[in-house]
Amino acid sequence: MSVNPARSVVGGATAVAIEVPTAERMRELGGRLAVLLRPGDLIVLSGPLGAGKTVLAQGIAAGLGIGQTVTSPTFVLARVYLDGRLPLVHVDAYRLGGVAEADDLDLDADADSSVTIVEWGAGLVEGLAQDHLEVVLTRPTADQAGEVRTVRLLPSGPSWTERLRGLLP
Ligand SMILES: Nc1ncnc2c1ncn2[C@@H]1O[C@H](COP(=O)(O)OP(=O)(O)O)[C@@H](O)[C@H]1O
Ligand SMILES: [Mg+2]
Repeated sequence: MSVNPARSVVGGATAVAIEVPTAERMRELGGRLAVLLRPGDLIVLSGPLGAGKTVLAQGIAAGLGIGQTVTSPTFVLARVYLDGRLPLVHVDAYRLGGVAEADDLDLDADADSSVTIVEWGAGLVEGLAQDHLEVVLTRPTADQAGEVRTVRLLPSGPSWTERLRGLLP
């Protein structure tokens, strides 16, 4: 990836910031994350509308070997994809009322054996898994009209901290 990852230490964990120039590169980044995924993983995506959360989720899904097209679950709250290396639950928390509702989501998959990706989940769903990876997507202010996105990967827990070390050279 033609990026200059910047690392910083947040609360003892290593956070990684990556400049992603195009949607295609965002999908590639998703593919690299997919390799690291294990049953029970929770990924929380945040960032404004159009930041690329769904594009990143699509890259993760493709990397898991999911053949179906992953679309934004905005109008259905959640979709479950079962044809990949691990079951994938893709949630859009935009319309969730709060933590209780997030907990109540009666998903057709067992969270312990699946990977769960939640868009708009920051502050809402972190309690659903002990460890999680928070991904914050933004458009650099100098590039409002362009395609560049900044992706910040914020590991929570030792497992994600360790795995992120292997993500980038
Ligand atoms: N570097 C980039 N990364 C991701 N998406 C990009 C990038 N540059 C342009 N785009 C476009 O921005 C849009 C992002 O949409 P989407 O992933 O649905 O956003 P979100 O889910 O965050 O609301 C897509 O149309 C995508 O093609
Ligand atoms: Mg989306």
